[in-house]
Amino acid sequence: MKRTAGLWWLALSAAAVAVYAPLPYLTASLDALAADGTGLAGHYAGQPAWVRSALYVHMIGAGVALLLSPLQFSARLRARLPRLHWVAGRTVLAAVVPGGVAGLLLSPFSYAGLAGTAGFGLLALLWLVAAASAFRAARRRDLRAHRRWAVRLFALTYAGVTLRLWLIILLVAQPGTDPGVAFDRAYLIVTFLSWVPNLLLAEFLLRSRRSARRKVVGATASA
Ligand code: HEM
Repeated sequence: MKRTAGLWWLALSAAAVAVYAPLPYLTASLDALAADGTGLAGHYAGQPAWVRSALYVHMIGAGVALLLSPLQFSARLRARLPRLHWVAGRTVLAAVVPGGVAGLLLSPFSYAGLAGTAGFGLLALLWLVAAASAFRAARRRDLRAHRRWAVRLFALTYAGVTLRLWLIILLVAQPGTDPGVAFDRAYLIVTFLSWVPNLLLAEFLLRSRRSARRKVVGATASA
Protein backbone atom coordinates (compact mmCIF):
# COMPACT_ATOMS: atom_id res chain seq x y z
CA MET A 1 0.00 0.00 0.00
CA LYS A 2 2.74 2.44 1.16
CA ARG A 3 4.96 1.48 -1.79
CA THR A 4 2.13 2.00 -4.30
CA ALA A 5 1.25 5.41 -2.81
CA GLY A 6 4.94 6.41 -2.92
CA LEU A 7 5.27 5.31 -6.51
CA TRP A 8 2.16 7.27 -7.49
CA TRP A 9 3.50 10.39 -5.75
CA LEU A 10 6.82 10.05 -7.59
CA ALA A 11 5.11 9.42 -10.94
CA LEU A 12 2.65 12.31 -10.65
CA SER A 13 5.14 14.86 -9.30
CA ALA A 14 7.67 13.81 -11.96
CA ALA A 15 5.07 14.11 -14.75
CA ALA A 16 3.93 17.53 -13.48
CA VAL A 17 7.48 18.97 -13.49
CA ALA A 18 8.48 17.20 -16.73
CA VAL A 19 5.62 18.98 -18.50
CA TYR A 20 5.26 22.23 -16.60
CA ALA A 21 8.98 23.23 -16.36
CA PRO A 22 9.87 23.18 -20.08
CA LEU A 23 6.38 24.21 -21.30
CA PRO A 24 6.82 28.02 -21.23
CA TYR A 25 10.12 27.68 -23.13
CA LEU A 26 8.38 25.65 -25.84
CA THR A 27 5.49 28.06 -26.29
CA ALA A 28 7.28 31.44 -26.62
CA SER A 29 10.71 32.77 -27.62
CA LEU A 30 13.40 33.31 -24.99
CA ASP A 31 13.23 37.07 -25.64
CA ALA A 32 9.47 37.15 -25.06
CA LEU A 33 9.86 35.07 -21.87
CA ALA A 34 12.72 37.32 -20.71
CA ALA A 35 10.50 40.39 -21.15
CA ASP A 36 7.85 38.62 -19.02
CA GLY A 37 10.40 37.63 -16.36
CA THR A 38 9.64 33.90 -16.82
CA GLY A 39 12.02 31.39 -15.17
CA LEU A 40 15.65 31.94 -16.10
CA ALA A 41 14.85 33.19 -19.63
CA GLY A 42 16.27 36.66 -18.88
CA HIS A 43 19.60 35.08 -17.96
CA TYR A 44 19.76 32.97 -21.12
CA ALA A 45 18.28 35.36 -23.72
CA GLY A 46 21.62 37.19 -24.08
CA GLN A 47 23.82 34.06 -24.21
CA PRO A 48 25.48 32.73 -27.40
CA ALA A 49 23.27 30.67 -29.73
CA TRP A 50 24.93 27.36 -28.76
CA VAL A 51 24.20 27.96 -25.06
CA ARG A 52 20.56 28.73 -25.84
CA SER A 53 20.37 25.56 -27.97
CA ALA A 54 21.93 23.53 -25.12
CA LEU A 55 19.20 24.87 -22.80
CA TYR A 56 16.47 23.46 -25.10
CA VAL A 57 18.28 20.13 -25.64
CA HIS A 58 18.70 19.89 -21.86
CA MET A 59 15.12 20.59 -20.87
CA ILE A 60 13.65 18.25 -23.50
CA GLY A 61 16.05 15.39 -22.68
CA ALA A 62 15.66 15.85 -18.91
CA GLY A 63 11.88 16.19 -19.27
CA VAL A 64 11.54 12.90 -21.21
CA ALA A 65 13.79 11.09 -18.70
CA LEU A 66 11.81 12.44 -15.74
CA LEU A 67 8.46 11.57 -17.33
CA LEU A 68 9.34 7.95 -18.17
CA SER A 69 11.60 6.94 -15.26
CA PRO A 70 8.86 6.17 -12.67
CA LEU A 71 7.33 3.58 -15.07
CA GLN A 72 10.49 1.51 -14.65
CA PHE A 73 9.87 0.94 -10.93
CA SER A 74 6.43 -0.67 -11.25
CA ALA A 75 6.93 -4.41 -10.67
CA ARG A 76 3.48 -5.07 -12.14
CA LEU A 77 4.31 -3.25 -15.39
CA ARG A 78 7.68 -5.01 -15.62
CA ALA A 79 6.00 -8.41 -15.23
CA ARG A 80 3.07 -7.72 -17.58
CA LEU A 81 4.85 -5.65 -20.24
CA PRO A 82 8.58 -6.48 -20.21
CA ARG A 83 8.89 -4.95 -23.67
CA LEU A 84 7.69 -1.60 -22.29
CA HIS A 85 10.45 -1.73 -19.65
CA TRP A 86 12.99 -2.35 -22.43
CA VAL A 87 11.71 0.45 -24.71
CA ALA A 88 11.23 2.99 -21.87
CA GLY A 89 14.69 2.13 -20.47
CA ARG A 90 16.37 2.78 -23.79
CA THR A 91 14.37 5.98 -24.27
CA VAL A 92 15.43 7.20 -20.81
CA LEU A 93 19.07 6.47 -21.67
CA ALA A 94 18.71 8.20 -25.07
CA ALA A 95 17.23 11.23 -23.25
CA VAL A 96 19.72 11.36 -20.34
CA VAL A 97 22.78 11.41 -22.63
CA PRO A 98 21.93 14.64 -24.54
CA GLY A 99 20.11 16.07 -21.48
CA GLY A 100 23.13 15.43 -19.24
CA VAL A 101 25.78 16.59 -21.72
CA ALA A 102 23.76 19.77 -22.35
CA GLY A 103 23.33 20.24 -18.56
CA LEU A 104 27.10 19.91 -18.15
CA LEU A 105 27.71 22.48 -20.90
CA LEU A 106 25.20 24.85 -19.29
CA SER A 107 26.69 24.60 -15.81
CA PRO A 108 29.49 27.18 -16.37
CA PHE A 109 26.76 29.63 -17.47
CA SER A 110 24.54 28.93 -14.46
CA TYR A 111 22.55 31.77 -12.98
CA ALA A 112 24.02 30.68 -9.63
CA GLY A 113 27.61 31.37 -10.80
CA LEU A 114 30.35 29.14 -9.35
CA ALA A 115 27.91 27.32 -7.04
CA GLY A 116 25.86 26.38 -10.11
CA THR A 117 28.94 25.32 -12.07
CA ALA A 118 30.00 23.05 -9.20
CA GLY A 119 26.57 21.77 -8.08
CA PHE A 120 24.89 21.33 -11.46
CA GLY A 121 28.14 20.26 -13.13
CA LEU A 122 28.69 17.47 -10.58
CA LEU A 123 25.03 16.47 -10.84
CA ALA A 124 25.31 16.23 -14.65
CA LEU A 125 28.47 14.09 -14.42
CA LEU A 126 26.95 11.72 -11.83
CA TRP A 127 23.74 11.55 -13.87
CA LEU A 128 25.68 10.40 -16.95
CA VAL A 129 27.74 7.91 -14.91
CA ALA A 130 24.59 6.43 -13.29
CA ALA A 131 22.84 6.08 -16.68
CA ALA A 132 25.86 4.41 -18.29
CA SER A 133 26.33 2.07 -15.30
CA ALA A 134 22.62 1.06 -15.22
CA PHE A 135 22.77 0.34 -18.95
CA ARG A 136 26.00 -1.65 -18.78
CA ALA A 137 24.72 -3.74 -15.85
CA ALA A 138 21.53 -4.53 -17.81
CA ARG A 139 23.58 -5.58 -20.85
CA ARG A 140 25.61 -8.07 -18.81
CA ARG A 141 22.38 -9.30 -17.15
CA ASP A 142 23.57 -8.26 -13.68
CA LEU A 143 20.07 -7.38 -12.49
CA ARG A 144 21.07 -6.55 -8.92
CA ALA A 145 23.63 -3.96 -10.06
CA HIS A 146 21.19 -2.70 -12.71
CA ARG A 147 18.55 -2.11 -10.03
CA ARG A 148 21.00 -0.29 -7.76
CA TRP A 149 22.18 2.04 -10.55
CA ALA A 150 18.60 2.60 -11.71
CA VAL A 151 17.64 3.74 -8.18
CA ARG A 152 20.60 6.16 -8.09
CA LEU A 153 19.78 7.39 -11.59
CA PHE A 154 16.20 8.13 -10.59
CA ALA A 155 17.29 9.87 -7.37
CA LEU A 156 19.39 12.21 -9.53
CA THR A 157 16.72 12.66 -12.23
CA TYR A 158 14.22 13.55 -9.49
CA ALA A 159 16.42 16.58 -8.72
CA GLY A 160 14.25 18.28 -11.37
CA VAL A 161 11.35 17.99 -8.88
CA THR A 162 13.18 18.51 -5.58
CA LEU A 163 14.90 21.65 -6.90
CA ARG A 164 11.51 23.25 -7.43
CA LEU A 165 10.11 22.01 -4.10
CA TRP A 166 13.15 23.29 -2.17
CA LEU A 167 12.89 26.66 -3.96
CA ILE A 168 9.30 27.04 -2.72
CA ILE A 169 10.28 26.04 0.85
CA LEU A 170 13.30 28.38 0.90
CA LEU A 171 11.24 31.28 -0.48
CA VAL A 172 8.51 30.76 2.14
CA ALA A 173 11.23 30.62 4.81
CA GLN A 174 12.32 34.21 4.02
CA PRO A 175 9.22 36.32 4.76
CA GLY A 176 9.67 40.05 4.33
CA THR A 177 12.81 39.66 2.18
CA ASP A 178 12.83 41.30 -1.25
CA PRO A 179 11.59 38.51 -3.62
CA GLY A 180 14.59 38.92 -5.97
CA VAL A 181 17.10 38.68 -3.11
CA ALA A 182 15.20 35.73 -1.57
CA PHE A 183 15.23 33.88 -4.91
CA ASP A 184 18.96 34.47 -5.48
CA ARG A 185 19.81 33.16 -1.99
CA ALA A 186 17.56 30.12 -2.40
CA TYR A 187 18.93 29.37 -5.86
CA LEU A 188 22.52 29.27 -4.58
CA ILE A 189 21.53 26.63 -2.00
CA VAL A 190 19.47 24.42 -4.34
CA THR A 191 22.45 23.84 -6.62
CA PHE A 192 23.41 21.10 -4.12
CA LEU A 193 20.28 20.72 -1.98
CA SER A 194 18.28 19.58 -5.03
CA TRP A 195 20.23 16.33 -5.40
CA VAL A 196 22.59 15.49 -2.48
CA PRO A 197 19.78 14.44 -0.06
CA ASN A 198 18.11 12.43 -2.89
CA LEU A 199 21.32 10.49 -3.44
CA LEU A 200 21.89 9.94 0.30
CA LEU A 201 18.32 8.67 0.70
CA ALA A 202 18.78 6.31 -2.27
CA GLU A 203 22.00 4.92 -0.74
CA PHE A 204 20.28 4.49 2.63
CA LEU A 205 17.37 2.58 1.04
CA LEU A 206 19.75 0.40 -0.98
CA ARG A 207 21.82 -0.44 2.10
CA SER A 208 18.81 -1.23 4.30
CA ARG A 209 17.39 -3.48 1.57
CA ARG A 210 20.77 -5.25 1.27
CA SER A 211 21.07 -5.86 5.03
CA ALA A 212 17.43 -7.08 5.17
CA ARG A 213 18.22 -9.55 2.37
CA ARG A 214 21.38 -10.73 4.19
CA LYS A 215 19.33 -11.35 7.35
CA VAL A 216 16.81 -13.46 5.40
CA VAL A 217 19.62 -15.45 3.71
CA GLY A 218 21.35 -15.95 7.11
CA ALA A 219 18.11 -17.09 8.78
CA THR A 220 17.36 -19.50 5.91
CA ALA A 221 20.90 -20.94 5.99
CA SER A 222 20.84 -21.55 9.76
CA ALA A 223 17.31 -23.07 9.69
C1 HEM B 1 19.31 15.72 -13.19
C2 HEM B 1 20.19 16.39 -13.86
C3 HEM B 1 20.02 17.84 -14.26
C4 HEM B 1 21.05 18.72 -14.44
C5 HEM B 1 22.53 18.41 -14.29
C6 HEM B 1 20.47 19.98 -14.80
C7 HEM B 1 21.20 21.12 -15.10
C8 HEM B 1 20.65 22.34 -15.43
C9 HEM B 1 21.38 23.57 -15.57
C10 HEM B 1 22.87 23.74 -15.38
C11 HEM B 1 20.48 24.53 -15.90
C12 HEM B 1 20.78 26.01 -16.06
C13 HEM B 1 20.27 26.67 -14.80
C14 HEM B 1 21.05 27.86 -14.34
O1 HEM B 1 21.33 28.77 -15.11
O2 HEM B 1 21.36 27.90 -13.13
C15 HEM B 1 19.18 23.91 -15.99
C16 HEM B 1 18.01 24.57 -16.33
C17 HEM B 1 16.82 23.95 -16.55
N1 HEM B 1 16.53 22.63 -16.35
FE1 HEM B 1 17.80 21.23 -15.63
N2 HEM B 1 19.09 19.85 -14.84
C18 HEM B 1 18.77 18.55 -14.53
C19 HEM B 1 17.50 18.01 -14.47
C20 HEM B 1 16.38 18.61 -15.00
C21 HEM B 1 15.08 17.98 -15.07
C22 HEM B 1 14.74 16.56 -14.64
C23 HEM B 1 14.23 18.88 -15.66
C24 HEM B 1 12.78 18.63 -15.94
C25 HEM B 1 12.20 18.97 -17.06
C26 HEM B 1 15.00 20.09 -15.95
C27 HEM B 1 14.53 21.23 -16.57
C28 HEM B 1 15.22 22.41 -16.67
C29 HEM B 1 14.62 23.65 -17.12
C30 HEM B 1 13.17 23.86 -17.58
C31 HEM B 1 15.63 24.62 -17.05
C32 HEM B 1 15.52 26.11 -17.41
C33 HEM B 1 15.53 26.95 -16.17
C34 HEM B 1 14.19 27.10 -15.51
O3 HEM B 1 13.43 28.00 -15.89
O4 HEM B 1 13.89 26.32 -14.58
N3 HEM B 1 16.31 19.87 -15.54
N4 HEM B 1 19.31 22.58 -15.70
